[in-house]
Amino acid sequence: MKKSSLDKKNNNKIWGGRYSTSPSELMEEFNSSIQFDQILYVEDIEGSIAHSEMLSKQNIISKKDFLSIKSGLEQIKKEISNNQFHFSSKLEDIHMNIESRLVEIIGDAGKKLHTARSRNDQVATDIKLWLRKKIDEIELRLKNLQQTLIEKSEIYYDLLMPGYTHLQVGQPVTFGHHLLAYVEMLGRDRGRLLDCRKRMNELPLGSAALAGTSYAIDRHFVADKLGFSKPTENSMDSVSDRDFAVEFMSASSLIAIHLSRLAEELVIWSSDRFSFIKLPEKFTTGSSIMPQKRNPDGAELVRAKPGRIFGNLLSLMTVLKGLPMTYGKDMQEDKEPIFDTVKNIELCILNMDGMISEIEPIPEKMMEALQKGFPTATDLADYLVANLKIPFREAHHLTGKIVLLAEKKISSLEDLTIEDIQSIVPGVDLSILKVLKIKNSVSSRKSYGGTAPKNVLKAIENAKKRFLKG
Ligand code: ARG
Repeated sequence: MKKSSLDKKNNNKIWGGRYSTSPSELMEEFNSSIQFDQILYVEDIEGSIAHSEMLSKQNIISKKDFLSIKSGLEQIKKEISNNQFHFSSKLEDIHMNIESRLVEIIGDAGKKLHTARSRNDQVATDIKLWLRKKIDEIELRLKNLQQTLIEKSEIYYDLLMPGYTHLQVGQPVTFGHHLLAYVEMLGRDRGRLLDCRKRMNELPLGSAALAGTSYAIDRHFVADKLGFSKPTENSMDSVSDRDFAVEFMSASSLIAIHLSRLAEELVIWSSDRFSFIKLPEKFTTGSSIMPQKRNPDGAELVRAKPGRIFGNLLSLMTVLKGLPMTYGKDMQEDKEPIFDTVKNIELCILNMDGMISEIEPIPEKMMEALQKGFPTATDLADYLVANLKIPFREAHHLTGKIVLLAEKKISSLEDLTIEDIQSIVPGVDLSILKVLKIKNSVSSRKSYGGTAPKNVLKAIENAKKRFLKG
């Protein structure tokens, strides 16, 4: 800490009035958020223009002042977007950097902008405006990913592959059916985002520092201008609420979970033991030492990102817990986790979309794994129940013996002869052989939501209607 900085008179034009010293340099750096909240400049300016228009409509400031505030703010927006703006950490944050520059540009009229508001309602408004846009963007990206998955499932609606439980072959399914499972997850994710968007879409501005204001402001007008459904109801809640950010981050955590599960499948499927798919080369990387490698780094990163995305959620929840009403500087710690979550969830969705759109299944490998995995064993047991009236538990047991026999003969269930089966279940006829065919097993799963290719085609049409129209 440099002593000289303590001795100087406070040079903060915005709140330095009652101060006789400047903050320590250490404090200045600690306290300022401009390094990361400058990302909010568009929304900050948008909010200020709507606020000043309302002040002028209500005769709190003159029309002339409003117009010069507006043109000053528009100039600042250009300066920032052209990288011609000097951000200062002495001015703490984006709100004060913009306001201070406004006064430089337009003079005294600029000093009227902060009438009937505070940074507390301002920052809550800025984040909501910013996040609302990002939610729309993320929601659209999820929709695009659903479209990619649906297009692939249309191509592979009848491609046979093993369906797993415990990562052991369970029953045959189609690749299209498997991909559509993710379309459902992403559909729920979109629903959660929209739900959160709807709840957060209330305007905090005009709540001022915490108690409202004595000026005759019109919050409904500002809400309307900024596309909020209405102003918030309670001024204290307005400035202290970050539920919307927690909700967004928790919705993002679920998206991250879903994408990481798909990413893990891509890693497994593309491994040389499985070889079910080829990942597009563009989303893999080589090894610096092992020349033969094509590592699934894109998928691995999507698999790993929940680490930070959950971390961000936990970080904000921890900041908020136990925080007394209303605003506390603690809340400045909301921003980096929110921004980081948005950035990373977008990257995950985009990269996943890129990988899925060029994924190439290898049908022979899927079939090979199917045949080794005796996936029609359940069909066989069901057949014994239906045709020989054997109780299911007993049929299960007998089927187990048939599987053991196939294993001993190093054969698939499909390749067993009728004699083989009759040696365990005397009295069965040739019709049992049909049941052992993998293809027949899949096409028999016609129950609603089941994997029969005919169902998958219907499910695709249904998914298009539910998720892609509009
Ligand atoms: N930079 C601050 C934040 O992000 C803005 C609000 C400051 N309010 C205050 N009373 N110091 O939270």
